[in-house]
Amino acid sequence: MNAVSHVYFDHNATTPVDERVLEAMLPYLRGQFGNASSRHEFGTAARKAVNRAREQVAALVNVQPVQVILVSGGTEANNLFVKGAASYLKPAQVAVSAIEHPCVAMPARELTRQGWKLRKFAVTREGQVDLADVDLALAQPTGIASVMLANNETGVIQDVAAVAERARAARAWMHTDAVQALGKIPVDFGALNVHAMTLSAHKIYGPKGAGALIVDKRLELRPIISGGGHEQGLRSGTENVPAIVGFGAACDLAAGRMQELAPRLAAMRARLEQGLHELRAVIFGEHAPRISNTSYFAFKGIDGETLVIELDKAGFAVAAGAACSSTSTEPSATLIAMGVAAELARGAVRFSLGAANTVEQVEQFLNALSATVSRLKGLTAVAV
Ligand SMILES: Cc1ncc(COP(=O)(O)O)c(C=O)c1O
Repeated sequence: MNAVSHVYFDHNATTPVDERVLEAMLPYLRGQFGNASSRHEFGTAARKAVNRAREQVAALVNVQPVQVILVSGGTEANNLFVKGAASYLKPAQVAVSAIEHPCVAMPARELTRQGWKLRKFAVTREGQVDLADVDLALAQPTGIASVMLANNETGVIQDVAAVAERARAARAWMHTDAVQALGKIPVDFGALNVHAMTLSAHKIYGPKGAGALIVDKRLELRPIISGGGHEQGLRSGTENVPAIVGFGAACDLAAGRMQELAPRLAAMRARLEQGLHELRAVIFGEHAPRISNTSYFAFKGIDGETLVIELDKAGFAVAAGAACSSTSTEPSATLIAMGVAAELARGAVRFSLGAANTVEQVEQFLNALSATVSRLKGLTAVAV
C-alpha cells in the first residue's frame, strides 16, 4: 500500500501523531533517556517530564494529577479497573453495557470464573444504553458497573452520568471508557460522576502505548501488574517516558483544538451522510447524539469486508465492523445488540474523520463509494 496517496478515514482505529507531539517526545528518545526513578540528573529530568505530562492529562479531564494512573493504553486501563476492583470487592454482579469494547467485555466475562455474575445492559435500536434496563439490572447486588462514553463503532454518546447516578445509588463502582470521546467532546470526570475513567493517547494524535486510568481518590484498587511500586503502587514498571510525554502534549493540544475541530468534522460528516442517503445506505445510530467524526453504515447485500478492500484499492482507508477487536467474520456485537439483522451487520463499514481530512476528500470518497457499490451490486445481481 502506498500510504501517502491513500486518504485516511479510520481515526477511531488510531490517529497520526501530531508533529508537535513528536517534537515534544524526541528529546526523551535521545539525550534525556533517564529512568524516572533514578536519583541523578538524568532521572530527575525524566521524573519532571512525567509529572508535567500527568498535569496535562489531569487538566484535560478536570482532575488532580494524583488521580491520573499512567498505563500502557486503553486496554490496560480497562483491565486495571475491572480486575483491580474485582480483587478488592466481594463477588457480586458485574454489569457492563452490551456494546463495550472487548477490553471491558472480556475481563468482565472472566470474572464469572471467580464467582461474579455477568449482566449486560441492553441498548436501544439507536445504540444508546437503555436506562430502564439499567434500573432493572442494578436491582441485583452489583459491585462493578461500566458504560463507555462514546462507542468506537457507531460513535453514539452514552448518558454515563445517568448510569453513574444509578450505580452509586446501588453502591456499585462505576467506570467509563472515554477512549473514543476524549478530544471529540468535553470530558469532565467530576461531571460524569464516575469512580474511574479510561483514556488512551493514540486516539488523540498521541503515540501508541500510553494511556491512563483516572481514579476517584477514595477508590481502592489492587494492581494487576506489581513490582517496583510505580504509579502509587497501581502499575509497576519503568515509565515509558517518551510516550507519556507525547500523551501529555496530545492532551494539551486536544483542549485547544476541540472547539474548532468538532464542528468542522460534523459538516464533513453531514456531507458524507447526505451522499450515503442518496446511495440508499443504512446509517447506524444516526438519530442518537454522536461524536462528530464517525459514521457507521451498510448497504444491503454488500459484505463490509469486501467493500473495505475495494475502497482500499481505490485509495481510501476505512474499517469493517470493529477493526481493533477481531479478525473473524462474526457480525459486530454492537450492531447485534442494537437489533440489527446479522446479514446487514456483516455489511457494516466505519468511516471516521480526523483533523487533516478535507471536504474534497469526502467528495472523492463518495464518488469512489458510488462506483464501487454499483459494481458490487451488479456482481451480486449477476450471481443471483
Ligand atoms: C472504546 C475503546 N476502548 C479501548 C480501546 C483500547 O485502547 P488501546 O488501543 O489504547 O489499548 C479502544 C481502541 O480501539 C477503544 O476504541
